[in-house]
Amino acid sequence: MGTPQGTPRTGASTPNGVTDLVTGGAGFIGSHLVEALLAEGSSVVVLDDFSTGHIDNLPRENPGLRVVEGDIRDRGVLRRLGSVHDIDRIFHLAAVASVARSVEDPLATLSVNVEGSLRVALWAARELPTLRRFVFASSAAVYGSDVPVPTDEKATGTPAAPYGLEKAAVERYLAWLHGHVGFPAVTARFFNVFGPRQDPSSPYSGVLSILARAARDGGAFTVHGDGLQTRDFVNVADVVEALRILARHDDAIGGVFNVGTGSPVTLNQVVATVQKIVADERSLELQYGPPRPGDIRRSAADVRALSRLGWRPGHSLRDGLETLLRVS
Ligand code: NAD
Ligand code: UD1
Repeated sequence: MGTPQGTPRTGASTPNGVTDLVTGGAGFIGSHLVEALLAEGSSVVVLDDFSTGHIDNLPRENPGLRVVEGDIRDRGVLRRLGSVHDIDRIFHLAAVASVARSVEDPLATLSVNVEGSLRVALWAARELPTLRRFVFASSAAVYGSDVPVPTDEKATGTPAAPYGLEKAAVERYLAWLHGHVGFPAVTARFFNVFGPRQDPSSPYSGVLSILARAARDGGAFTVHGDGLQTRDFVNVADVVEALRILARHDDAIGGVFNVGTGSPVTLNQVVATVQKIVADERSLELQYGPPRPGDIRRSAADVRALSRLGWRPGHSLRDGLETLLRVS
């Protein structure tokens, strides 16, 4: 395909010669990934419709960054991207990342999370013959609650919400594309990611963003249920490192990898840690309410597959919480 109006295609002139496309790059996890990719010398193109992401999350002044506002379902936007940039790797993070929204309006989330993902993957498979990697942000939500814990990648559970079904469907499409045309897809199943820039504004936002805001502002925090539910909270910096490893290792192609820590904690333990960190300055008004419908009781990742590629979580939960309470 030719380059429109002689526009130079990017890639060769960047310090490491690599051009990365990050869909959803203006969001919580995507913006941390973009920073890391720019730091390693990539030229980075962000495609985001800013539905939940924010332009302020991105280092706009960095000359290696190009931001394209658009919807992943828009064929014209994808075509134009492919004609202007020599894209080497795609990190596909754009999604409606809310489990609750998928329950309220499953057709809307199906459209973005499944149709949108498939459009990006089909476009890449057809129009980017030199693409080296397509890393997909999937979720532990594909497992549901009827699987052994810690959970390895072979476990087959029943997702508890359309969001998990949507992620599982995309994983299957990518497996098909990999088998059918050798598409270089890798699936990363994130557990509970936390860190700076996670938006606490909805009751369904990630629990640690809500807890951190309450602790910072001295507000109320409601534990849904008895607080004995476990989660595998993984620092966004460790998630970014996992994505970089998956993009580098050719052995990862065609694979599925949990991204958690393998060290789950109860919600009560996290709350106690936060209370200790903020003890001198503010008080957290803690209350307990009824369990949240559809919540899973236990969640923990078996991370042996990712560890075999050299990944180790580099941040303790306590360090991550301290950073969160300091900066967000
Ligand atoms: P986020 O909402 O901050 O990021 C999603 C980004 O995608 C936003 O910038 C949003 O504007 C963009 N987007 C949404 N619909 C789009 C569309 N149609 N076209 C273009 N851009 C669109 O969420 P996040 O927590 O950073 O999640 C990133 C990815 O990781 C998502 O795929 C999510 O499902 C997955 N994930 C997140 C977690 C977690 O704990 N945060 C856990 C498992 C999986
Ligand atoms: C989270 C992700 C989901 C991901 C899944 C993977 C978010 C918003 N959701 O779901 O995208 O696929 O992990 O494992 O990041 N809670 C409270 N009080 C609150 C808010 C939450 O007690 O104010 C509880 C919840 O009831 C739940 C736990 O905290 O038991 C974690 O909730 P949440 O952060 O929403 O994450 P998950 O539901 O585990």
